[in-house]
Amino acid sequence: MVTEHTNSQQHLVSGWVEEFRPFSKNGQCANYIPALAEKNPLQLAISIVGPSNNEMKAGDTTELFTLQSVSKVVTFILACMDRGLPYVLERVDVEPTGDTFNSIIRLESHRPGKPFNPMINAGAITVSSMLSGISPQEKIEKILYFLEQMVGKKLKVNEEVFQSEWQTANRNRSLAYYLMDSGFLDCPVEEALEVYLKQCAIEVNVSDLAMIGLVIANDGYHPQLKTQLFPKQVAKLAKALMVTCGMYNASGKFSAFIGLPAKSGVSGAILAAVPSHASLNSPFPDGCGIGIYGPAIDSIGNSVAGVKLLKHLATEWDMNIF
Ligand code: DON
Repeated sequence: MVTEHTNSQQHLVSGWVEEFRPFSKNGQCANYIPALAEKNPLQLAISIVGPSNNEMKAGDTTELFTLQSVSKVVTFILACMDRGLPYVLERVDVEPTGDTFNSIIRLESHRPGKPFNPMINAGAITVSSMLSGISPQEKIEKILYFLEQMVGKKLKVNEEVFQSEWQTANRNRSLAYYLMDSGFLDCPVEEALEVYLKQCAIEVNVSDLAMIGLVIANDGYHPQLKTQLFPKQVAKLAKALMVTCGMYNASGKFSAFIGLPAKSGVSGAILAAVPSHASLNSPFPDGCGIGIYGPAIDSIGNSVAGVKLLKHLATEWDMNIF
């Protein structure tokens, strides 16, 4: 139910979107994936969803975009459920790198070649390879079904974005071959890549993103379904990884000055999970999920206007988890 109070807050959020939209000019749409380069860089949208299905949204909220690296959190959670934590952690570490998301350097310099964390491409490709399923299609169906439970509707892979990236994925292919060589892939290179690139191309809007954030904020419990979708221990680990590695090599600054578990993607997506203890002074005192879309990204890969908007909102509503 929307109250008078939330109506005035809603007005405030709409104003913030317009205030921060012009910052998009300081970024550019990802140009290494041709289908993303064509997006309108001035778009900006936000959705904030609380456990009683209370939502505030503003900006270009009907725009569809792809999850890209935000999908890494989802597949990490699924792999932990599929294989158990010890199996996953034997194959991927939980240490931040400080390197760019698609860097290959540590795979050789850090013996025995184990990927540093599941939020960089090397770790995410490893995680995708270990999902259960006899084919890439079965693995993708599984990811889509898991997401459907969280967001309450069927999602699909944007074939154009997938094809666009599949044909230009030389760096990811190199990473996958290196991982295969050092024994970290559970399936053939092309299959792991197909799963990874298709999960990146799953299409959502900001409300979907906020719902995923809400379930993560609630330690895997879906407040509307009243169901534990994944174990609390896995949710805690996912949030720790979001804090330490979720915003690429800007994760330190993001934690220091915004202080929220978050994950970004080169499509300009940002997912944040706000626990209740950090949102007591906000219109969402029982916690919330936040979804943001602003396709103009900085050189690190984070939405320029999106990060500014999230910083402002988290400061105004006193949401820093620390
Ligand atoms: O692997 C890629 O390049 C993209 N599909 C995803 C990149 C992304 O969002 C950044 N990853 N941390």
